Amino acid sequence: MNISVIGVGYVGLVTGACLSEFGINALCMDIDEEKINKLKKGIIPIYEPDLAAIVHKNSGDKLHFTTSMEEAVAFADVIFIAVDTPTREDGTSDLTHVFEVARNIALYMNEYKIIVNKSTVPVFTGQKVREEIKAILAKEGKNFEFDVVSNPEFLQEGSAVKNFICPDRIVIGSSNDKALEAMKKVYYIQLLQGVPLVATNIETAEMIKYASNAFLATKVSFINEMANMCERCNADVLTVARAMGLDDRIGPRFLQPGPGYGGSCFPKDTKALVGIGKKIRYIPKIVKSVIEVNRLQRLLAYSKIKKAMKKLDNKTVTVLGLSFKPETDDLRESPAIDIIEKILESNARVKVYDPKSMSNMKTNYPLLPIAYCEDAYSACAGSDCIVLVTDWKEFKSLDFEKLKEIVQTPVFVDLRNVYEPEEIRSFGFRYEGMGRK
Ligand code: UDX
Repeated sequence: MNISVIGVGYVGLVTGACLSEFGINALCMDIDEEKINKLKKGIIPIYEPDLAAIVHKNSGDKLHFTTSMEEAVAFADVIFIAVDTPTREDGTSDLTHVFEVARNIALYMNEYKIIVNKSTVPVFTGQKVREEIKAILAKEGKNFEFDVVSNPEFLQEGSAVKNFICPDRIVIGSSNDKALEAMKKVYYIQLLQGVPLVATNIETAEMIKYASNAFLATKVSFINEMANMCERCNADVLTVARAMGLDDRIGPRFLQPGPGYGGSCFPKDTKALVGIGKKIRYIPKIVKSVIEVNRLQRLLAYSKIKKAMKKLDNKTVTVLGLSFKPETDDLRESPAIDIIEKILESNARVKVYDPKSMSNMKTNYPLLPIAYCEDAYSACAGSDCIVLVTDWKEFKSLDFEKLKEIVQTPVFVDLRNVYEPEEIRSFGFRYEGMGRK
């Protein structure tokens, strides 16, 4: 089987590389020549564990790269659309790239094709893509059959390869058995391993993606609210979360309080769901509150720093971790950015260290007056407050004896509850966690 992936971003690259690992011939296409040239040389544009290894292993054999749309369409039976769908000012998704790709597929179509929406797109986009392709084919006087399928991804950054190879479920939204059977061939190995398949119509598949992400975001905002309440009533949110999670109906995951969710999906998808709600005249009130709680949680993280330091003016704050979560160099919607901006507004100096995201930070925020450091300890030297924002593994075993010696003022704000409060206080630090005293 041959597949093409249009759009070699995070999702597209993982999809193409992992399918090639499963023995499928995969051609990845992007209009960004520099990116494609680098990939041809084995240079991977993002940090994602295990991804480089499978790209290197399969490149030139089962995995190929191109900038030619014509080649990508001619090559494949199944064409994945994995282009970006940025958020517009009003919260809705900008689908310009999706429709542009759909039109190009129609222009180059030479036989029956299955067009798969992998990008997260609002309900009814599958239908609109079908209409768009149909209109171009009619205009061009072509009479090819084609099918449109919705196949949302549930990849978590930092474990995307594992998630693709062994997902919790595969969702396929299609309007006929022919397309469904072809998609089952694409995911033959995962299905053989017993991964559950949810085969449904296109609109349901589109909705599953938004409902899943909005629900997970709800869990995060919910536990953040509980943490804020726990702090005011001498309760420990970690024990509350553990006990909640032991109830099978609730489950233990996504109940860690923190500075609010970030990343490329939760912020965007929750806003898009409200945007869809406006179009279909039903506003999801819970999701709207989830977004608001998340916004406030970032401000609350900053207030904690302010409270712990009393005065920020002319002080030095160390920020450990920049990415929105560990094991990724992705800074999109990262709480660290908002927190740093607020600290700078308070006229304090900021020293930062992150194991993987500092070069992205320098490129994306070149004007932020922050000092980049070589490791956690050089970032903490002379500091008046250490703020742990992203729970990278290497921040989980800091040497507090050593830190005590090198900081200016021993204050530790642990936005991820990595440490036990009493233990850190025993080193002479003032300690502030999330939802615990
Ligand atoms: C998410 C979904 O999990 C994935 O299925 C979807 O396809 C893309 O979006 P990702 O954005 O990679 O994946 O990150 P995820 O691990 O889900 O975390 C999202 C955010 O929630 C992060 O900012 C994380 O720090 C935060 N989070 C998560 C918490 O604050 N507490 C938790 O308990 C879990």
